[in-house]
Amino acid sequence: MPSLKQLGERWETLAQDDALWAICSDPAKRNSGWNQQEFFVAGEREIETVLAYLRRLNVTINKDWPALDFGCGAGRLTRALAARFRECWGVDISPTMIAKARALNHDQPRCKFQMNQETDLRAFADATFGFVYSSLVLQHIDRKFLPGYLTELARVLRPGGVLVFQMADHCNASVLHKFRVKIAVRRRWKEMKTGRKAMILMHCMAEQYIRRTLADCDAEIVDVRLTNSTDPAFNGDLHYLDCEPSTGYVSKQYCVIKNS
Ligand SMILES: C[S@@+](CC[C@H](N)C(=O)[O-])C[C@H]1O[C@@H](n2cnc3c(N)ncnc32)[C@H](O)[C@@H]1O
Repeated sequence: MPSLKQLGERWETLAQDDALWAICSDPAKRNSGWNQQEFFVAGEREIETVLAYLRRLNVTINKDWPALDFGCGAGRLTRALAARFRECWGVDISPTMIAKARALNHDQPRCKFQMNQETDLRAFADATFGFVYSSLVLQHIDRKFLPGYLTELARVLRPGGVLVFQMADHCNASVLHKFRVKIAVRRRWKEMKTGRKAMILMHCMAEQYIRRTLADCDAEIVDVRLTNSTDPAFNGDLHYLDCEPSTGYVSKQYCVIKNS
């Protein structure tokens, strides 16, 4: 199982290669094909979708408190959150992602960025944030680190604060699909060994384990929704689903409120 250092190195390779494509991997946008404006518009849309969902749930967020975007990449979502909160901190494991985020958001003083290569969030005190968001991140982190990060995301949340995160739950795969995935992983593994490509794996954590982890965090899961985030055609365009896809990864978005 890769260490956190190896995971960080893979993201660093991807960030140096083509940061925006590593974040939203639309095949048509490979080789620096993302238009920066479209990239940030996709972030705006995603945050608007999530905030509208929270309004429907009657969940209120105090926007006078800072927000946190865990696994911020180039700041696609940090920027959209900073426009709506007092400020937003984007945290990422990759120095190049952080440098890219700072450069692309230099005109946004409410965007703050922090590199974090730890298994925790020691740079932030308890109860710092009113809203914590994480999308397309935890599904790429080895399961052994997940309970630690989830606990930390809850720790830095203020009482009454809201945590929304997305995670792959399981994979609905036909025999053919499993075979294809095996071949693809083997090919990427070879490319990685020859130093030609970094391989980012998908990891799943089922809802029951997530519930068990958060049970000790003085926080309550108030809603869980299926999303299209693990759909290969996701491309930064978040939708809520009524049922699981019949094949492929099933993505869930959790809404958690820290006890007051
Ligand atoms: C697919 S990108 C998503 C970026 C951003 N959330 C978005 O949707 O625009 C995943 C990001 O998570 C970061 N990441 C992966 N593991 C991390 C960790 N353990 N701590 C912080 N960031 C991490 C990667 O460097 C990468 O920038």
